[in-house]
This record gives sequence, structure tokens and C-alpha cells, in this order.
Amino acid sequence: HPRVFSGVQPTGNLHLGNYLGAIKNFVALQESHECIYCVVDMHAITVWQEPNELARQIREVTAAFVAAGIDPEKHVVFNQSQVSAHAELAWIFNCVARIGWMNRMTQFKDKAGKDRENASLGLLAYPSLMAADILAYKATHVPVGEDQKQHLELTRDIAQKFNNDFAESIAAKGFGEAYFPLTEPLISGPATRIMSLRDGTKKMSKSDPSDNSRINLTDDADTIAQKIRRAKTDPEPLSTELEGLKARPEADNLVGIYAALAGLSKEAVIAEWGGQQFSAFKPALAELAVDRLAPIAGEMRRLMADPGHIDALLGAGAARAAAIATPVLDGVKDVVGFVRSR
Ligand code: TYM
Repeated sequence: HPRVFSGVQPTGNLHLGNYLGAIKNFVALQESHECIYCVVDMHAITVWQEPNELARQIREVTAAFVAAGIDPEKHVVFNQSQVSAHAELAWIFNCVARIGWMNRMTQFKDKAGKDRENASLGLLAYPSLMAADILAYKATHVPVGEDQKQHLELTRDIAQKFNNDFAESIAAKGFGEAYFPLTEPLISGPATRIMSLRDGTKKMSKSDPSDNSRINLTDDADTIAQKIRRAKTDPEPLSTELEGLKARPEADNLVGIYAALAGLSKEAVIAEWGGQQFSAFKPALAELAVDRLAPIAGEMRRLMADPGHIDALLGAGAARAAAIATPVLDGVKDVVGFVRSR
């Protein structure tokens, strides 16, 4: 049956790209699907994290989930390190996946940079843990931004290779033709790739040294308005057709942000704003952004004032997650041929 899984890393500032490309869609899917949303703290430590700051960030992402409208009672919200099935399944996938598959990942190449020999081994194996996150729940749908597409293709490759390598054992143990589903990415809408406000060719990212390149979920109204006012644009008025935005990445990005915040298509935004100057569009965009983000920031602040409550929420979510993942992992152990007492 359909099941949604997705994860967000507790590293650096959550920004508008994370919200529009992922979290906003997590909220919408709750109506129609069983959802599992994970703060992926084990992925975070593939690059160095200061321990106190990591703990704070884990709570902050959790607060953002809840403040944005994820219901931790109806759905499952937890942090990855509290459910050991993720690490155990990732090890088995490390033995299914090939080194060459990992070496080809663009995120690994970007994050490792030139000095690849010095990247953590975890950074190379990152996609294997991500496949384990998803497949420990036999999730069928994964909402993400465009930048995660390659990782989700790899998740399908790992599921397929496991199903093939162990086909005989899977059938013999009574699991039918395939143990793992081939997961579908959900990448849709006007905000699958939000770009930097300073450079329309770079994606908005937590790690950009310029804070003016992104709108953080915790920015106050003045900061949001100022960052949008200063956002890079060209001197032309807004195009009257979508086609006209193609060669104008900064303009295209602001139209996409407006569309996603307003719940409109880019066509609808162009229909309303085409031909107008940025001096008119930007204040309207700033007002819309503040209107949508300020309540989330306020609720995050309220939740962060009670870390004990957040920790309890994560603990309860982890227990429910483990109840789903443990039987899946036990089946994998049987398929692989591991002996376990029952
Ligand atoms: P992360 O933590 O970098 O980002 C969280 C989510 O935000 C999306 N996103 C964006 N969307 C649009 N425009 C942007 N500029 C932008 N920047 C980020 C990401 O696509 C993502 O959906 N590897 C994942 C975390 C992960 C995961 C998983 C996701 C671990 N296990 C299992 C799904 C399923 C990551 O680094 O996301």
C-alpha cells in the first residue's frame, strides 16, 4: 500500500528551498497518505558537526516540521539515529551497491571537492543510508526537491539489485517476487529547485556563505523584505509569457517562489504580473513571503522554548518507526541468510 517517506538533514539553516521544495509538500501529502518524516542526523555527520549545535539543529528541524503543519500524532516524526534499522540495513546495502555507483553521485563530488581521499567514508556511502531510510519502511513515494533525484534513482537501483541478487531466497522465504518496491520520487510544482537570490544559476543552499542568498525559515519580516528587495534581477519588466523567463534565471526564480507561496502555477503569476516592473513585484512577493513564513517562524520559536517536549515527540515517533522497520529488517536478515533467534 502507498507509504510516503522523506528526510531533512539537521545541518545549517532551513531555508525557503527546503520549505517550498520539500516540507510544504510533506504537509499536503498527509491528507492522502500514511507519512513518515525523518530528521536524518546520521546523514548530517558525514561532514563535521559540532555536537551541541547538532542537537539544537535536530530539534529545530523537528520544530519546523510541526510548525509547518505536520501532525506528529497522525503521522510519524522522528530522528534517524534512534531507529537502528537504518544503520543495519545501510550496511547490507553497502554490500549490495557498487563503489562505482557512489563515485558517480554529483552530491558526493560537490561535497567532497578536490580532496576526495580526505572525505569521510560516510560521505561516499551516504546514498546507501538514504536507500535504507526509504526501504526500511518499503516506502512507495518520496517527496523531495530536484537535487535529490539522482539519489532516488540509486535507491531504485539498490532495491532492484537486492531483489535480483536474492530472488531465489526471497521466493523461498515466502516473500514473493520482489522484497523491496521500486520507489517513486515526487518532484513536482513550481518550486522543485529554488535558486540563490544572489545568483540564479546556483541553487539556494544551507551552506552558501552569503546569508543574503537565501531566506531562512527563522528570518524576521524586515530581513525577508530586505533580502527580496536586494535579490538580483535584470532591468527588464516581468515577461508576459513563460517562455520569456527561460533566459532570465533570476526572474524565473522569483516567479517560481511567488507561485509556490501563493499556491499558483507560474502561468497564473505571469498572467497577473507580466509586463510589470520588479519595483512593484518585489514588495508584493515580500509581503506574501512574510505572510506565509512569519507564522511558521513564530511557532518554531514557541516549540524551541520547550526542548523536552520535542525530545519526547521524537522518542514516541522513533518507537512507532521502529515498529514498522524492525519486521522489514528481520525479513532482510532471513533473505540474506543471517541466523537470528526468534
Ligand atoms: P536536504 O536536507 O539537503 O534538503 C531537504 C529537502 O529540501 C530540498 N531542497 C530544495 N528544494 C528546492 N530548492 C532548493 N534550493 C532546495 N534545497 C534543498 C531537498 O531536495 C530535500 O528534499 N539527502 C537528503 C536527505 C535525506 C532523504 C532521505 C530525503 C536523507 N534520507 C530519504 C528523502 C528520503 C538531503 O540532503 O536533503
